[in-house]
Order: sequence, then C-alpha cells, then structure tokens
Amino acid sequence: MSRLIVVSNRVNPPADTAVGTQGGLAMALSAALREENGIWFGWSGQITDTFTGHLSIQKIGGVTVALTDLEQQDVQEYYNGYANRTLWPLFHYRTDLVAFERTYDEGYLRVNQRFADTLFPLIEKDDLIWVQDYHLLPLAQKLREHEVKNRIGFFLHIPWPAMRVFQTLPKHKELVETLFDYDLIGFQTEDSLGAFQEYVLNCADGELLPDGQLKAFGKVVQAAAFPIGIDSEDFITAANSDKALAYYNLMRNSQAGRKMITGVDRLDYSKGLEERFLAYEQFLNNHPRMEGEVFLMQIATATREEVGTYQDLRARLDSLSGRINGEHATIDWVPVRYVNRAYRRDELAGIYRASQVGLVTPLRDGMNLVAKEFVAAQDERDPGVLILSEFAGAAAQMTAALIVNPFDRQAMAEAISEAVHMPLKERRQRHADLLEDVKARDVVWWRNDFVARLKGEAVRLHEVE
Ligand code: G6P
Repeated sequence: MSRLIVVSNRVNPPADTAVGTQGGLAMALSAALREENGIWFGWSGQITDTFTGHLSIQKIGGVTVALTDLEQQDVQEYYNGYANRTLWPLFHYRTDLVAFERTYDEGYLRVNQRFADTLFPLIEKDDLIWVQDYHLLPLAQKLREHEVKNRIGFFLHIPWPAMRVFQTLPKHKELVETLFDYDLIGFQTEDSLGAFQEYVLNCADGELLPDGQLKAFGKVVQAAAFPIGIDSEDFITAANSDKALAYYNLMRNSQAGRKMITGVDRLDYSKGLEERFLAYEQFLNNHPRMEGEVFLMQIATATREEVGTYQDLRARLDSLSGRINGEHATIDWVPVRYVNRAYRRDELAGIYRASQVGLVTPLRDGMNLVAKEFVAAQDERDPGVLILSEFAGAAAQMTAALIVNPFDRQAMAEAISEAVHMPLKERRQRHADLLEDVKARDVVWWRNDFVARLKGEAVRLHEVE
C-alpha cells in the first residue's frame, strides 16, 4: 500500500483529535496521514549552531512526524529571507516590499537541498509525496536529483501572481523550471492557475496540451485549481462546544447590546488591516448615529516578528487604532478593540458566533479560511453577515457574501452599513447559500481530490522528448 508523505515548513499535528488550538488544515492532513499510515516531514522550529541532518521521528496524536532542525543562517536566509521577504510580498502583489538578496536565494536553495537530503532515506517505492507551500517550491527538483521516481505533488496556499508581477523576480524562470519536476501542481483558484499558465506560455515557451497539461522545459506537468476548504464538521462541533459557548456568552455580555463587527487575521500587510480601520472610521463619519451602537473587534495575531515590514505594520496599526479610538471614543464606548494575542479555534468559533458582521478584507489572499470559519460558526436562526474582499480566493466561491473592493474606502463603509442593517430574511438566505458551499467543498473534499489526482488517475509522462 502506498503511504502519503506530507512535507511543509511547519509541522503541527494536533496532540489529540479534540478541537483545540490547531488549524483545520493541520487536522485534515493529520487525519489523512493517520488513515494512510503516512509521515509528516518538515522543520522542527528549533535552531542549532550547525546543521546536522539529524532526524527526530516521533508520534504525535497518532501521526508519525519526522523533524529536522535548521541552523541560524538557514532560518535567516530561507524563512525570514527568501520565503517571507521575497516570495511572500511578491506573490501578494507587493513588489514595493520585496527584498532581493543573493544570500536569501542561496539560503532558500540550500534549505530545500537539506530537506531533500534528509527526507530521501525515508522514501519508499510507492509513497506519494505532497509538498506544501511557497517555502518549498524547488523541493521536487532536489528530490529528483536523488533519482526519486515517486509521484510528487505541490500545493500553493498563497496566490500565484500575474505574469508581469512574477517577472520582477530575478531568476524567475529558473524557479518555474523547478516546478516542472512535480507531477501535479495545485493552485487555490482558477485565477492563480491562469496566471501560471500565462507565464509558462509566454515566458517559458510552453504549450497547453489538449488534456490540460502544461509542457515546458522538456517536461509535462498537470496543473489545476483545488480550492481549499475548512473541516466544516469539526468547526461546527467547535462552535457548539462548551468553550465556544463560554466565549459566546463572554462576548455577548461585554457587547452590552452593541453590534460587533469582527476581523481575525495574522498581523500581515496582505490582510488590508489599515484599509479596514480607515473604512470603519469612514463608516462612523458617514453615519454618526452609529457611534456607540457598534464596535470593531479586530484580533490581529502577531506573526513573523523578525521581519521589518511586519514590525513597521504593527507600529502603524498601533498608531491608527489609537488615533481612531482617541478621536471617536466616549467615556463608555471604545470604537475599536484591537488585540494582538492568539486565540484557540473553539474560542474563535464562539467569538464569530457572537458577531453581527465578519470583516474579511485582505488586499490579496490565496483563499482565506476565516471567511469559511465565520460562516460555519453562525447560528443559522440569526446569522451574522460576511463582508469579503474580491481579492480573497474565497470570493470565487462565496458569492453570497457582500463582496467589496478593499481599496475602495467609501464602498467598504457602505458595505458595513448595509451589513449592520441587513434584515433577518436576507441574512438567513445569504448564510444558507454560503454554508451549503462551505460544507460541500470542505477540506476533506480538497484533500481527497488532490490525492486522487496525484495517485495518477490522470496519467502523465514525466519526461517528453
Ligand atoms: C500562510 C502560509 C502558511 C504559513 C502561515 C503562517 O497561511 O500559507 O504556509 O504557515 O501563513 O505563517 P508562518 O510564517 O507563521 O508559518
């Protein structure tokens, strides 16, 4: 029987199957790994003086994990450097924030090599290998250098940018060439898939074959869109747990009858937090009678704190939230509750359920699972309204949300007003439509679809003359 090997930068299987702090993706991948007797391979999160290549193999919550440490220089150049200072801003269309440094590039390739070298001895003949996200784009190429013939798939959790944006990356073609050592490449949306195809056709002299495969660099690869979902069943269970109920009650009490507009994000410039704060302020300015009737509850969990662009953003948000509160607050009302700490999934589920409006307005996002979790957590008898950016991958599926352009402050302010005043009948109808899709295209559907395609239900020739 073939095993599944999942490879990702971060490895975080839940310690048990109970709903807790872990994200839905970790839960779903862990379930697949338990069923298929698989291995989850990646970085331990630990930093050693020099890289040893030592593998620590352990069972966590029934999942076999194989972890390698990295050295300080690796973390600086690969994780903080190429992954998060170069690729992350570039793939989120922020060419103004991209840092190109030769050492980042070298560190990125070195760590991918180290991952390949360390993983290689674990691979058995029929294993399926599934690589996750932008940290590990060239991993298949490094594995093929070890003569690994297994089927290898790659899923990109973030957007693939438009051709002209991607071309600003030095050595862009070399990076794309490495992707042709996969058998299957998955994107979140048709939009990302289209951008990738456009690049391959125009910049790599590629060809789109009649069966949908892409041919370039003398190789053929299958590329398709696999929109990721949440573990909806599990999240609905979380939303009905004691912990969620406790948080729901806590929020309801502290709301004192005011409507709560909720945002939950990592503190990342792709999430459009400044634009969101300003749009909310615009809403208050446009509708002064709403002062004291609503508040914005923004949870923005600190992330990638060693990277300067994140430190700068944090400082700007501190200042912006302070200014809005200073200008608009009264002695018994604070317009923005701004929180940097992290919350467990079941706690978040309770917070979502207590919210009248969910504000998910990234400037760019691969998918955005908060939008889906917000819908899953609602009480269908009296559901909150989802406001969703047209630039989140989720917008392609979640058309019953109020779709906004996050760069248009006035339009966002009006969407907030519409959401706050939306009649119950319309809220129920929109929610029912959204929930149907969130349940139908959940993370298990996503995983099964990808793994089936990778297993070769679609046959592919690796090398083409
Ligand atoms: C995004 C990426 C993931 C990443 C996560 C958290 O969702 O697609 O690969 O793990 O952000 O970021 P971090 O840098 O903390 O792993």
